Amino acid sequence: MADPQWWRDAVVYQIYVRSFADADGDGVGDLEGIRARLGYLELLGVDTLWLTPFYTSPMADHGYDVADPRDVDPVFGDLAAFDRLVADAHEHGLRVTIDLVPNHTSREHEWFRAALDAAPGSPERARYHFRRGRGPDGDEPPNNWQSVFGGPAWTRVQDPDGSPGEWYLHLFAPEQPDLNWTNAEVWADLEKTLRFWLDRDVDGFRIDVAHGMSKPPDLPDTREEREPAGDDERWAPASGEPDPRFDHDDVHGVHRMIRAVLDHYPGRLVMGEVWVGDSSRFSRYVRADELHLGFNFRLVRAPFDAAAVRSAIEQSLGAVADAGSSPGWTLSNHDISRPVTRYGGGEAGLARARAMTLVELALPGMVFLYNGEELGLPDADLPDDVLQDPIWELSGHTRRGRDRSRVPIPWEGSAPGYGFTASDPWLPMPPEYGKLVAAEQLEDTGSTLSLVRRAIELRKTHPGFQGQELEWFGAPTGCLAFRRAGTTLVCALNTSAEIVPLPPGEVILASGPLTDGMLPPDTAAWLA
Ligand code: GLC
Repeated sequence: MADPQWWRDAVVYQIYVRSFADADGDGVGDLEGIRARLGYLELLGVDTLWLTPFYTSPMADHGYDVADPRDVDPVFGDLAAFDRLVADAHEHGLRVTIDLVPNHTSREHEWFRAALDAAPGSPERARYHFRRGRGPDGDEPPNNWQSVFGGPAWTRVQDPDGSPGEWYLHLFAPEQPDLNWTNAEVWADLEKTLRFWLDRDVDGFRIDVAHGMSKPPDLPDTREEREPAGDDERWAPASGEPDPRFDHDDVHGVHRMIRAVLDHYPGRLVMGEVWVGDSSRFSRYVRADELHLGFNFRLVRAPFDAAAVRSAIEQSLGAVADAGSSPGWTLSNHDISRPVTRYGGGEAGLARARAMTLVELALPGMVFLYNGEELGLPDADLPDDVLQDPIWELSGHTRRGRDRSRVPIPWEGSAPGYGFTASDPWLPMPPEYGKLVAAEQLEDTGSTLSLVRRAIELRKTHPGFQGQELEWFGAPTGCLAFRRAGTTLVCALNTSAEIVPLPPGEVILASGPLTDGMLPPDTAAWLA
């Protein structure tokens, strides 16, 4: 664990804490539940955990609305449970990174409550973005910004005397007021939070909405309608038109501050969620004195098509090359549809997701796996009345939101709950999850779990996974093949409808059965 650049090729496993494992039987996952599953994670072979927010929260956005960033919500445990988890994870050779949410707080944060009790123009209100409304009575929002989750990005409050008052900005739910990053107290508080967790021995942070935080001072109207087209389109720029809500230049000062704090703690990592489409804008976030690494979402957005996958890989590599950073690859997380479903669902969707996992794990850089991805879980089809994601309400029931990829993990057994909980899980687990339980997949050499385990093991031990540069080979239409420069290990992917010959070499791993030594559709193979 001594290498200060350990993260460059690490496999990071994202735990959606609410859905991973429930130790205290209330239907919601918790820190003790994670601790009880560390053996599984060690067996899977991942290097690092990323825990989604477990801080004190009214859970309007399941923890991304933080009321106290320096304490644990009772539903997840307490600080002692957190310390036990970190210590035990380290014993298992696993690093622990945690999610920080600096763009906004909860409405229940003591600062926001103080702001509501204080007068317009007060220092309490200056920590957020309060503005007078437009129109003669101030009853129209201060600008035309939309919330990412749907509806206006502004909510009106009452003045302390009960009369209609100012509006506050929230790029997400109304329960998530945006902080004002020109306010010195906001900076000082984040610094305090960073040190608080670094001193508790965390190995790093994932910065939520790392392209947010800073806003243009005059909060200008957007020039185009930005209501997202679908749940997975949230931050996609609709055109080349810059979006004044995000990626404001001053945000880089915040990242430099974060990095300066981390540099006092050797070997700790800061990575960021950067939904910025333009590669040169993206690369600014991973400059030498900012984030170590940014999540690049190009691979998520690529359809299952060799040309699109290759172009996403090349663009991602290009975006970090100039800055001297390394890429972070992701196919799945708690905000987007699961790959099995995205690639078409059913057997074909699963085969394609397995193939893409081999592509991803062959790439240089950090790889993120989202809990359940290693089991080949599809999205869950949930009835309207159980949906909890604020997107469902805020979009006026036009977007179903992200609950479908947040359903708890099936661990073992055949009865509902599947080892996740002894009571009712917070979202219902579909019966088809019962066929994908981890315990059975561990015993089955053909399972997705066994494939992912073997792939991670080879990635760590085989010399073919060294080096940062890729070399591409000629490949039949609908196929791609590459290797790390200077090595002999080739990854081949077939997204076409034809069976194709494999490149020369011995197959050391394939995502599905070969056909007479050839590569069938929806399949990838590693050859040495
Ligand atoms: C990030 C999180 C998402 C959350 C949002 C607001 O995008 O990944 O789950 O809803 O930020 O905090």
